[in-house]
Amino acid sequence: MLPTRYYPNTRLRRLRGNAGWRDLVAENTLTPRDLILPLFLRADDDAAEIASLPGVMRHKISDLPKIIDAVASAQIKAVMLFPKTPDGLKTDDGAEALNENNLVGQAIKKIKSHNKDILVITDVALDPYTRHGHDGLIKNGAVVNDETVDVLTAQALLLARLGADAVAPSDMMDGRIGAIRKKLEAEKFHNTIIISYAAKYASCFYGPFRDAVGSGQLLQGDKKTYQMNPANSDEALQEVALDIAEGADVVMVKPALPFLDIIQRVKREFLMPTFAYQVSGEYAMLMAAADKKWLDGERAMVESLLAIKRAGADAIVCYGALQVAENIKKLGL
Ligand code: PBG
Repeated sequence: MLPTRYYPNTRLRRLRGNAGWRDLVAENTLTPRDLILPLFLRADDDAAEIASLPGVMRHKISDLPKIIDAVASAQIKAVMLFPKTPDGLKTDDGAEALNENNLVGQAIKKIKSHNKDILVITDVALDPYTRHGHDGLIKNGAVVNDETVDVLTAQALLLARLGADAVAPSDMMDGRIGAIRKKLEAEKFHNTIIISYAAKYASCFYGPFRDAVGSGQLLQGDKKTYQMNPANSDEALQEVALDIAEGADVVMVKPALPFLDIIQRVKREFLMPTFAYQVSGEYAMLMAAADKKWLDGERAMVESLLAIKRAGADAIVCYGALQVAENIKKLGL
C-alpha cells in the first residue's frame, strides 16, 4: 500500500530541485548499451540514399568495417541486417533468401572477420527477396503459412551456419519459432538466440523501411492477414505466450512508441527479455519535425527512447543509435 502523504510535509518538488537529486532518483536511464543499430545493405551499384529515412544509408559490404568500428566505439553491442536485394534477384518464391552469398551472407562474414564481438542479428522473413513484397509464399492469392515456415526454417538455419548470433523472425507466421528452434537444436546450433517479433502489428509506420529494402513499390495489398490488428492487446499476449513456449529467447514488440501499453503488458506478464523496435516511421516523423525546426530532434529522440525503456523494454532497435549515443554524452544523460 502507498503511504498517505500530505503537503507540506511532502513536497515532491524537493527531489526535482537540481540535477544531482534528479539523477539520483531517476528510475530509468538510457545508455548506448540499450540500443541495436539496424544496417541496410546494398549491392555496389545501388543507391546509398534512402529518401524517407534522412541520415540513414544503405551500406555496401566493403563499407561495413568502418561502420562496425563506429558501432564499437559508441559502445553499441549489436547490429541488425536488412538487405536491399537487387530487383533482378527477386522472385515469387524469394529463393535469394537461401543463397549463402546473398548480401546478408556476405555481410555476416565481413562483420565477423572484422570484429567478432559485435552481435549480428539477422532478419528471418522473405519480403526483401520476393517480387510481391510479402513475407511469405503466395498460393492462390494468399500468403500460405506452413509452406512459408519450411522456407523460413531453412533461412534461419543458413543464417546460423553463416555465423549470425541471433535470428529474428519478423514474418508473423504461426508456428515458426517452434520449427526454427527444433531445426537449430537438431543441427546443434544450441546457442543461436531467437529474437521473436512476437507482437508485430500491421502498421503504416513501416513505410520508410519498405522504401529502404525496395519492397514498398512491389507490395501487393497489405499484411493484415499475418501481422496483428493495432486494435488488439490481449491477442499480443497470446502471440508472446506461444512464442515463448516454442522456444524464443527474447520477445519483441513492434512498433514501439504507439504500442507502449503492449510493451508494458508483455514485460509484466512474462518477465522475459523484451525488446522494442522503434520503427522507420517513428524515426522519420521525428527527423521530419526536427528538420522543420518544429521539435528539438535530439531531445525528442532521447525522450522517446526513454519512454520505451520505461514501458519495459530491455533494448531498443533504433535507426539513430549512433547519433543517440553521441547525444547521450552531449546532453549529459
Ligand atoms: C519485414 C520487416 C519489416 C520491418 C522489419 N522487418 C516491414 C514489414 O513488416 O513490412 C519494419 C521495420 C521498420 O519499419 O523500421 N519482415
